[in-house]
Amino acid sequence: ADIPVITVDGPTASGKGTLAAEIAAALGYGLLDSGALYRATGIAAMWDGVSPDDEAALATLAEGLDLRFGDGADAGRTWLRGRDITDELRLETSGLMASRVSAWPAVRAALHALQLSFRRAPGLVADGRDMGTVIFPDAALKVFLTASAQERAARRHKQLISKGISASLADLRADLEARDLRDRSRSVSPLKPAEDALMLDNSALSIEDSVAQVLAWWQQRR
Ligand code: C5P
Repeated sequence: ADIPVITVDGPTASGKGTLAAEIAAALGYGLLDSGALYRATGIAAMWDGVSPDDEAALATLAEGLDLRFGDGADAGRTWLRGRDITDELRLETSGLMASRVSAWPAVRAALHALQLSFRRAPGLVADGRDMGTVIFPDAALKVFLTASAQERAARRHKQLISKGISASLADLRADLEARDLRDRSRSVSPLKPAEDALMLDNSALSIEDSVAQVLAWWQQRR
């Protein structure tokens, strides 16, 4: 537990992933994208024809999740059972599936030890919904990232358009608000700031500004 952890929690499309990756790169720390574990469990369930309502079968899948994150030249790529799922992982359908799968206590319990195993020297930046509250309660710095629903929907819209995928802004906003509501209102590990989290609203901030703020907080903590 001497190995420092920085947690970045927050709602869908708040920019957690980008922020966490930049902080990890700046400090030379490892990165845990915990949402990817729930997304991959959802993809495995689709492959195997397991229903998102079958808690026990989903937990078994999560327990045996054969997931590999690339490093070096393969950084940013992800394989499930040896198949490259990098693109599939980021689809809206995978996010929605993850949000259903992740509401089951047995699934969350099955992925707990795997998440802890990412804590390796010299340090870890972990992003998700419950990194600061449940998985790494002793984290040295906890950030809770927020942005208005309109801003988050606009960012997601821009991302999709840049990939040549057409989408309606209103539909995107409705989808992410539904996902937030489910994440906030579930009984196990709901999305909420840890008591000792520092709040960062990045609605009007550039990525560079957000990174600079978190690194400044980190300097103060050390
Ligand atoms: O962050 P990301 O969009 O990849 O997460 C996908 C879904 O996985 C979220 O909507 C949430 O329901 C779930 N999740 C979670 N706990 C985490 C990370 C993600 O419940 N630590």
